[in-house]
Amino acid sequence: MNRRSLLQGLSFSMLAAKLSSASPFYGQAEPQPKTSRSISANDRIQIGFIGPGSRGQELIRQLLRTPGVEIAAQCDIYEPRFAEVDELVGKKVPAHKDYRELLQRKDLDAIFIATPPVFHAKYAIAAMKSGRPVYCEKTIGFTPEDCNNVVDATRRTGQIFQVGHQMRYASWIVESVNRVRKGDIGEPTHVYGYWHRSDNWRREVPNPSLEHLMNWRLYRESSGGLLEELGSHHIDIANWVFGERPQTILGTSSIAVYHDGRTVGDNVQAVFGYSKGRRMFFSSLTDNGLMADQVWIYGTEGSLQITLEDATLYKQTSKRITEASHSDVVQKGVETGASYNANSEMPYRGPGYRLHPKPGEDATRTACGSFVDCVRNKQQPFANVDVGFGSGIACSIGRQALYEGHMEKIPELRA
Ligand SMILES: NC(=O)c1ccc[n+]([C@@H]2O[C@H](COP(=O)([O-])OP(=O)(O)OC[C@H]3O[C@@H](n4cnc5c(N)ncnc54)[C@H](O)[C@@H]3O)[C@@H](O)[C@H]2O)c1
Repeated sequence: MNRRSLLQGLSFSMLAAKLSSASPFYGQAEPQPKTSRSISANDRIQIGFIGPGSRGQELIRQLLRTPGVEIAAQCDIYEPRFAEVDELVGKKVPAHKDYRELLQRKDLDAIFIATPPVFHAKYAIAAMKSGRPVYCEKTIGFTPEDCNNVVDATRRTGQIFQVGHQMRYASWIVESVNRVRKGDIGEPTHVYGYWHRSDNWRREVPNPSLEHLMNWRLYRESSGGLLEELGSHHIDIANWVFGERPQTILGTSSIAVYHDGRTVGDNVQAVFGYSKGRRMFFSSLTDNGLMADQVWIYGTEGSLQITLEDATLYKQTSKRITEASHSDVVQKGVETGASYNANSEMPYRGPGYRLHPKPGEDATRTACGSFVDCVRNKQQPFANVDVGFGSGIACSIGRQALYEGHMEKIPELRA
């Protein structure tokens, strides 16, 4: 297994020093964002959309439910998307096959980017330089340099930038993190993210020449695999809980089941190190969905489980194992003391305190609505560029650790 310093990624730009203290998230004010035209209260925000595939169309669906918004232009290199978007929007949306053409339009107020992640940094930087606020899907960049460049461009242009970490807009997750930060589970020391599925992660393609375009997630040149695609959301929750970015990564990945030509792993286990010995563990399996998608935050006085539909807070129930006296150990054996205590070794099966979503709540809709408000009011979003940097840099360095890491070989029994 390989251990790498995430600080290595920061050396790509002189931003590192600034970043440690440079945002609402890490604790400092943002520059005033600029927009290309002045938008009055009655104006409809004109959105240009780049990469309206599966996630992109979900974002469009939610934008269509957001008051005061118009899908004004679309861009994709795969032409059949255009008709899909027209049908979704209910009218012909001007279409472009090259993002530069879309950015040349004068009628757009904001740009959404939901292409595969290798294009995020390039398109987001170009969009901000063209004077438009950007909503960019995670992760903000594919390489550490990409991630730094996106932060750099946001600072230089003073633009509004929101990353697609919609979990930051889910009321029950916000309440969970607020409770943890208030001390409801004592000191949070560990965040464990499980994203397990029974799903081979492969899309059927209409024609083999489209394999890499449609199954970009399965190939290392276009995807950070499960760590980036799924783990980035959990890493973001850990960053939010701990109030900092991770400093180290130790990881492993392999192909255990799907020997189908993919070059990313079909399972991943990674441990991120934070200050004061705190840890984030991420596990992803694709052949067993029992655990599904859940994040556990473990603290010194309790635990909090977050799922996609609720959260549950458990106060510490098991008795702490205390040091046993020598005579106790002799009389009662392993039932007492540091090695074993029957009362505290069984999983807790009792009730916890439930946190529920608001009726009808959809985190992606809230994230889109909040971005539109930020564009109108010229404010930086909660899931701002520093939030995006935190998960992006962890995944891009993490990817290298997973694939280039070395493992110690365990020798055979000596003959
Ligand atoms: N926030 C979330 O919960 C969430 C969920 C799913 C996906 N995502 C992210 O959304 C992004 C897209 O994922 P997806 O599942 O929708 O992928 P997808 O393959 O379904 O869609 C990507 C679209 O981008 C287009 N595209 C590819 N290269 C392009 C280019 N150079 N210029 C313009 N268009 C291009 C493709 O033709 C396709 O229509 C990824 O970054 C992914 O990580 C986020």
